[in-house]
Amino acid sequence: MEFSCKDFKVGKCQGQKLVDGETMPLVLQPPEADKADIESLLLALKTNKDWFEQLIIKTGAVLLRGFDVKNAQDFNDIVEAFGWDDIRYVGPASRTHVYKRVWTANEGPLSEFIYYHHEMVLIKEYPKILLLFCEVPPPEGGQTPFVPSFRVTERMLEEFPEAVEDMDAKGLKYTFTALSKNDTSSMRGRGWEDAFGTSDRAEAGRRAKALGMDLKWQPNGGVKAILGPRSLTKVFDGRKGRRMWFNTVVGMHGKELSSALMADGTEIPEKIVKRCEEIIEEESIQFDWEKGDVLFFDNLALLHGRKPAKPPRRVLVATCK
Ligand SMILES: [Fe+2]
Repeated sequence: MEFSCKDFKVGKCQGQKLVDGETMPLVLQPPEADKADIESLLLALKTNKDWFEQLIIKTGAVLLRGFDVKNAQDFNDIVEAFGWDDIRYVGPASRTHVYKRVWTANEGPLSEFIYYHHEMVLIKEYPKILLLFCEVPPPEGGQTPFVPSFRVTERMLEEFPEAVEDMDAKGLKYTFTALSKNDTSSMRGRGWEDAFGTSDRAEAGRRAKALGMDLKWQPNGGVKAILGPRSLTKVFDGRKGRRMWFNTVVGMHGKELSSALMADGTEIPEKIVKRCEEIIEEESIQFDWEKGDVLFFDNLALLHGRKPAKPPRRVLVATCK
C-alpha cells in the first residue's frame, strides 16, 4: 500500500524509527494550512476511512499532528468518525469518564512509569485500536513509548529459543491483587468495585469469570485475581504472520501485587525476564507530545507505556473493537 492521499501530508517527528520498512509513528499533517480545522479533519477521515484503517494496521502507529483538535468533544468526534465499536476498559488503571467515548488514560501519579503492555492483554476481548489525544502536553517527560511486539518475540527467540517455545507451549498463569476501593496514589490502584462495576462479591465473581479470571477474596476486603492459562505469543490476521509478544510477563513477574508463572506452576527464570525487559527498552520508540496530537495504535501489534512526567499532563484515551 503506497502512501497517496490528497487529504494528508506526511510529516516527521523526533524519535521516529524505521522498523522493517515502516516509519513509526507515521506522522500525518494537514495538506495545507487552511485544512487544519477539525471539520476538515473529520471530513478527511470519513472520506478516507478504509485507507486510514489499513494504514494503522500497516504501520502500527499513526500520529495526527498539526490539526486543531481542542478538547474531548473534538477527540470524540474523531473516534466516532470511524464507526468502530467501543470496548469498555477493564484493568488495573483507575480512569475517569470524560465525554462519551473518552476517558482519562490513568489517574495514577505522574511520577511513576507505567510499564509496557498491550491494552487489556489478559482479558478475553481486547481492543484492536487505541486512540490517544494530548490535551495538555507535560512540560517534561510523559511520553507514551511503544514497542513493535513482533521484534520482542524475534529477539527473545534468537537468545532463548527453547525457553520461549517451552513457555509458549505451556502457557502462562498470572495473579494480581486489588483492594476494594480505588487508590489513586498508585497507578495500579483500581479497586475491584470499580473494575467490576459492582460492590457485590458474587456478582463481581460472575463478571470476572466472564472476563476469564477467578477471584479469591482476601481478609482485608481486597481480592486476588487468577488468570490463565494465557499464551506467550499470538499471531493475528493481517499482521504479516508476525508472532506478537502478547503477554505481560515483565510487567507482572515477581511484583508485590502480581505474579507471572508458567501455567503448570513452574517459575519463569529471572534472567529471561530481565533480558526481556532490556530488549523491550531497546526496541522502544517515543516522541514528545504536542498539544492537539492524536495517536492511533494497533493494539495487537504494539506494546505501550507511559514515562514519568512533570505536571500538568492530560492525555485522553478511547478504546475500540
Ligand atoms: Fe495502556
